[in-house]
Amino acid sequence: MRIHGRHYRTIWTQDNHVTVIDQTRLPHAFTTCDLSTLDEACHAIQSMIVRGAPLIGITAAYGVWLAMQVASDDQALEEALTRLGKTRPTAVNLHWALEQMAKVLRPAPSSERVARAKMEADRLADEDVACCHAIGIEGLSVIRALHQQKLKAGQNQCVNILTHCNAGWLATVDWGTALAPIYLAHDEGITVHVYVDETRPRNQGASLSAYELHAHGVPHTILVDNAGGHLMQHKQIDMCIVGADRVTSCGDAANKIGTYLKALAAKDNDVPFYFAVPSSTIDWTLSDGLRDIPIEERHPDEVTHMAGATENGTIARIQISSPGSAALNPAFDVTPARLITAIITERGIVSANRAALASLFPELAS
Ligand code: MRU
Repeated sequence: MRIHGRHYRTIWTQDNHVTVIDQTRLPHAFTTCDLSTLDEACHAIQSMIVRGAPLIGITAAYGVWLAMQVASDDQALEEALTRLGKTRPTAVNLHWALEQMAKVLRPAPSSERVARAKMEADRLADEDVACCHAIGIEGLSVIRALHQQKLKAGQNQCVNILTHCNAGWLATVDWGTALAPIYLAHDEGITVHVYVDETRPRNQGASLSAYELHAHGVPHTILVDNAGGHLMQHKQIDMCIVGADRVTSCGDAANKIGTYLKALAAKDNDVPFYFAVPSSTIDWTLSDGLRDIPIEERHPDEVTHMAGATENGTIARIQISSPGSAALNPAFDVTPARLITAIITERGIVSANRAALASLFPELAS
């Protein structure tokens, strides 16, 4: 992604530390944040300086590297894996990335662990970029087909796409998952318009998806979270595409709270609803998403308060609720497989069911 004319990944290393973009300050300020210790890596994930399932995983991988620089014996390794593993509960990419690190580091002599941790985290980061680009190419075929269909029917040729939360460049190392096909379609000259759910309570749509779509020059409009169903009823949305934090082996998908309601509205209005995920988001150990996927419950303050820029440019936090009222803040919900048109992965597009997913990833499913 290019920001102010320069290409950025969302995470990189310099000397002995890791640098990330501070997503809590976007869209008002583009600032970076250096992480030098295990504590700082855990804090960055917990406080959502970095967020989005793939990026959480890669940050955790580099967190292990930071920890190994201080102590690289078995106890230090296990402590780093455990602490990072507890930072956020829903995104399975976190556990996937830590497992990859553990596989390489557990058998390695302690004297080699710093170098091997860096190599493995770099490899996972590069793999994430390649996966997201491949998801983009697969998803582009869906947008192209819709575009052709509209042209043939003599309709307005713009493909109108709704997305929820942020599953773009900022949620991954580069490209994004749900937004990658959109960037490629736009670059190919297909006219697209993205309707971006604001995504209360943390507003990842209004502040992050809108920020990166704008930076790439993709036409878009921010919607309040409850407007999508209305637009679908009035034929203003051709397709929905979202990312996920965890997909079960049977195709149920957990994503940011509110995704399920959009999938229901899409089903009622015959609007295709796609999830775009790398294979690292599929949890082959789970089958029933509603029963088995742990849903993070975040602090009620995120519901009762909001932060934003004032007219003079300073960032302020205000209370929007009646003081004294309780608030509940489940951060994710599960969209059952029956509401999902298809899952777009780096190896192809398949129906949301076990046989179809396993046919793409037989080595992981078994
Ligand atoms: O709570 P967040 O901001 O980490 O949640 C992120 C999302 O729900 C994303 O849409 C999801 O992780 C997909 S990321 C490609």
